Amino acid sequence: MPAPNDSTPKHQLCNPTTTDGIRSLPPEIVLQILSYLSFGDLLAFGATCSSNHGYHIASVKGLRLGVFEKRVHSIISLLQAGWASPDQLAVWGNNGQDFSYMISVVLPQNKLAKRDSYRVQSCHSTSTRRRSQGYDRPRSQEHMIRVQNQIVTRVLGRYGAALRSLEFMAYDLDMEGATALGTRCQHTLRHLALRFEHPHIRDGLMRPSTWLQPAPGNEAWNSLIGVGGNCKGDGLQYLDTLILERAGITSWQLMMLVKRNPNLKTLKLRTCRGARSDFLYWLGGIKDEFEESETQMGEPAPGAKLEVLWLEHCHRILPHPVEENKDFPDEMCDSGFEWVRGLNGLRSLSFSESTNIPSELVDRANKTIWKVPEVILPYSLYGSSAIAVDPRWK
Ligand SMILES: *[C@@H]1O[C@H](CO)[C@@H](O)[C@H](O)[C@H]1NC(C)=O
Repeated sequence: MPAPNDSTPKHQLCNPTTTDGIRSLPPEIVLQILSYLSFGDLLAFGATCSSNHGYHIASVKGLRLGVFEKRVHSIISLLQAGWASPDQLAVWGNNGQDFSYMISVVLPQNKLAKRDSYRVQSCHSTSTRRRSQGYDRPRSQEHMIRVQNQIVTRVLGRYGAALRSLEFMAYDLDMEGATALGTRCQHTLRHLALRFEHPHIRDGLMRPSTWLQPAPGNEAWNSLIGVGGNCKGDGLQYLDTLILERAGITSWQLMMLVKRNPNLKTLKLRTCRGARSDFLYWLGGIKDEFEESETQMGEPAPGAKLEVLWLEHCHRILPHPVEENKDFPDEMCDSGFEWVRGLNGLRSLSFSESTNIPSELVDRANKTIWKVPEVILPYSLYGSSAIAVDPRWK
């Protein structure tokens, strides 16, 4: 992808003879036509003159961006995230109205690679491109994260203000990337996914154990909620979907982010630092440990509008380890999970892979109290529940 700042054809006027056809059409129609172009063709169209440049920016409403060290890392990650099926890898189709463009950036990896080249693979088209950008080959995990965030910052510098949907695959968020998100995407962004869990990456700069835990806590998240010294904007406020994987966001930062986004309907957290009982009791309107107050009776819980809540591979959900509470009377059988009762709109609740929660407890609580239409248990209770045990540990 060309650098956002250096190729903007600001002073170039449209050539009337070649663009008359386009210019006589209403803008909605032009955008409709452009939605059929591959990302490469769209960039080329945008480079022709300043009004077409504006059209090309307005057409990018959904973007999926992944930045990786190796091509194989990128391919596996985007298959796992469901961004592409194997036969789709070449052609990326339209995704309803919110059509997405997918860009996968692979950084130069061998020492002989030209210092300033990296590859952009756009799966909306079949093209693979090489552009000069001036990024060093990353030397450490921290450096890699910095480069990943520099790239998302440049992309948001150009497309951020019009984006409705953004998915970013990298290793972590830093201050630069978070500030770009919190200031460029304030008003239009509805769907945000930050995916930092890529356990298949076991070579290169990453230690395999990195993927087992949430990323370290990080003040960068404050930029998404509009607090902190670096912050110029109010942060994100119009999200309806938030997906965080292996995120270092703390429970307080998560509480603030949910509070600032009153339209949030879908919250999917995986290996997430902030998915803890203090956040969940606040969400269900039971107890506010952040402000040390009991919530007002009768008011809807902060999470009452949530329809989907997934807490996967999260190990701090319970305030304390649960005792075998088979003897609890029915009305108390969800002890440790009372917050679910406040989530009146819930249609789907997942505890998949959050294995220190007993599946029996969740199953019983749902049947007697919650009655959420879809509940995914921490692990299967029946059938294939046999857990393979390494013979050495027997
Ligand atoms: C949870 O309760 C709902 C409504 O009673 C039911 O349809 C669903 O199958 C239950 N799920 C589980 C896993 O118990």
